[in-house]
Amino acid sequence: MKTTLRTLSSTHKVKGMPILARVDWNVPDAAMHGLEGSLKLERSIPLIKQLVKRGAIVILLTHFGRPKKKDRIHSTQPLAKRMQQYGLEITFHPESVSKPEELKRLTKRLRDAKQGTIHLLENVRFEKGEEKNAIPLAKAWATLGYFFINDAFASCHRAHASVAGIAKQLPSYAGPSLVEEVAYLERLISKPSSPFIGVIGGKKLSTKIPVMKTLLAQCDAVLVGGAMATPFLAAKKMQIGKSYLEKASITEAGKLLKKPGLLLPIDVMVTDKLVSNPVLRRVMVDAIGKQDIIVDVGPSTLAAWSKIVGTAKTILWNGPLGWTESEACGNGSRFMARVIALRTKGRAFGVAGGGDTLPILAQTKTAKWFDFVSTGGGAMLEFLSLKGKLPGITILRSR
Ligand code: 3PG
Repeated sequence: MKTTLRTLSSTHKVKGMPILARVDWNVPDAAMHGLEGSLKLERSIPLIKQLVKRGAIVILLTHFGRPKKKDRIHSTQPLAKRMQQYGLEITFHPESVSKPEELKRLTKRLRDAKQGTIHLLENVRFEKGEEKNAIPLAKAWATLGYFFINDAFASCHRAHASVAGIAKQLPSYAGPSLVEEVAYLERLISKPSSPFIGVIGGKKLSTKIPVMKTLLAQCDAVLVGGAMATPFLAAKKMQIGKSYLEKASITEAGKLLKKPGLLLPIDVMVTDKLVSNPVLRRVMVDAIGKQDIIVDVGPSTLAAWSKIVGTAKTILWNGPLGWTESEACGNGSRFMARVIALRTKGRAFGVAGGGDTLPILAQTKTAKWFDFVSTGGGAMLEFLSLKGKLPGITILRSR
């Protein structure tokens, strides 16, 4: 795949050499058996197998969750076992590289390791300097290997020591999964075929304001659903009843509304009570009652949006269009997944991504119909809004 990222060539000598590889195995329990979990784990396998085949000693780094302190539930140890299902035998090393004695022990173990073996270090976020991108920490990890390979696209928006820091300390390269992500997502940035339609849902508009600005400048239409839509309705002074509202985003929503191309639902599904199987009613958006809670987009919206998606040449989808925690409120999202899937891989170039979007693709078995499903949530959105300039990626661009 064409890319401007530096990659390890097939002639690079790696046999018998310890190589550090950053993967993103941040697959919380709930997603372990879901598409998000399997995508992240499976996409990292080609790099690992390639290095093993070439006789390297593979040293894997990943974060797992957002630990406040070192605790058992955030240890990466179970991941080593989980990878056995892919035929990978991995030795877990609990040592901290910040502690000189432990680093010494770890160094010795890795020096004695056999060619073609795989090693997993403890959660990088257990190390104090990780999130501060501390140079001593990056240097400590760097002492363990000859090269650094980043194959963790979903973490590349983090200027952390295991992502951006080590890359400055060692000859560094992009792994195959990172190259693939960048190549596909760059197609959304540089001259996407028009009409380009964005479908954006999810809960918090605040986390998506930069990408909304980018998409509104680039897309022919951006369809906004989910709780993301309520600050827009509120900015238009419409009644939203008791729906979830991110009040802090109303002013920004008002500004975004002035840009052409932003489309809101015309009807919604509402309920009086957020219970697991709520009774739903369909109302037009200008008839939402004081007690109503919006939980999904309505059928007229889906009909109108299907027509728009049916004209698209490029489609990006991120975020559910309703309260998909409840099966009953996921109809809009499931419907759109199918509509987008029918249009992509052929008539339009279609990309989906985001932790909450992947379960919908899994439920509807539509993932394979998309041209590309990104492993990145925040990383994908930041990649688009920063035009690819993520801390973990910029450093790997060929000079
Ligand atoms: C993700 O799941 O989006 C990535 O692994 C990044 O995780 P983080 O948001 O905790 O940095």
